[in-house]
Amino acid sequence: MEKQVALHDKKFSLYLEEEIILNRVKDLAFSLRQDYNQKELVLLCILNGAFMFASDLAKDFDGPVEVSFVKVSSYVGTESTGKVDELIGLTANLKNKHVVIVEDIVDTGLTIDKVIFLLNQKHPESIEICTLLYKPEAFLGKHRPKYVGFDIPNKFVVGYGLDYNELGRNLKEIYQLIPE
Ligand code: IMP
Repeated sequence: MEKQVALHDKKFSLYLEEEIILNRVKDLAFSLRQDYNQKELVLLCILNGAFMFASDLAKDFDGPVEVSFVKVSSYVGTESTGKVDELIGLTANLKNKHVVIVEDIVDTGLTIDKVIFLLNQKHPESIEICTLLYKPEAFLGKHRPKYVGFDIPNKFVVGYGLDYNELGRNLKEIYQLIPE
């Protein structure tokens, strides 16, 4: 029988094996290395989901590179401005640098649009997106990812950093929700 995991009230079946993921991550690291040769590159990992992908991508990147981490947060301001988005923990100086956003998954693409809007205020030389997973059928965003590990169908996935209500991030493989 195919490998399954249970998280909270749901079951998931194996979708991408560890070896397949790691080989693809190597390819992505190689492409980035080639494209950013001699350029000041910052890999900007979007926490929490991209932590495992960013770690493997950085290890496979054979050259000098900055690795930085941010969290995207929405908070309700004290004024009547409503919801405000911010990048928490951005310490790297991005001015005139080439930024590659490292994401676990681009689904609607709305998170990435917000991140790019906020990053542009730091005046980087360029911004591109590197995502392990991309759901083309769900995409509504303005910025399409340039570097994509796998195009996947519009189904919920967990593992390799991705969670279902905070469980599943530690799995080495990626699993897909089994419909009830
Ligand atoms: P977007 O703004 O719709 O592109 O969603 C981006 C974020 O939603 C990702 O960074 C994930 O945290 C979360 N997300 C979207 N799809 C999935 C999924 O299939 N599994 C787990 N998290 C997901």
